[in-house]
Amino acid sequence: MAEPVVDAQPLCASSELAERGLAFVFDVVLWRAPARAFALRFDGQVVCYLNRCAHVPTEMDWQAGHFLDMDKRWILCSIHGAAYEPADGRCVGGPCGNGRLMRIDTFERDGTVYWYPSRDIQPVAFDDAGPAAGTAPESPP
Ligand code: FES
Repeated sequence: MAEPVVDAQPLCASSELAERGLAFVFDVVLWRAPARAFALRFDGQVVCYLNRCAHVPTEMDWQAGHFLDMDKRWILCSIHGAAYEPADGRCVGGPCGNGRLMRIDTFERDGTVYWYPSRDIQPVAFDDAGPAAGTAPESPP
């Protein structure tokens, strides 16, 4: 039985995503297993992807939140140097071939960034300790 698609999830304040700055990294559930995702601002738009390289399914940032190359033009995998187009996650060089990053849809409203869970990528469930990092308990207004 398919997982239900839940409402958009608050992610962070819009002001936390500076143009081509540090990404906001957060926990998600991919196909019922823990995974991480990230959002960053590129050319004014928030882009958000699963933190998983198309070459080998591993996290890509060379330090937490650092995904862009030195020129802040490409998303770069720290493992073998695959380069991705930030706007659409398409591989543009390196061993990622014809692959692309798994996109997570987002929107901004009233100074807050939200992300949309999908059939494949879900928010981390709440437990007795409260919400997991990068999630919040309320849906957008
Ligand atoms: S794991 Fe990303 S380029 Fe190889």
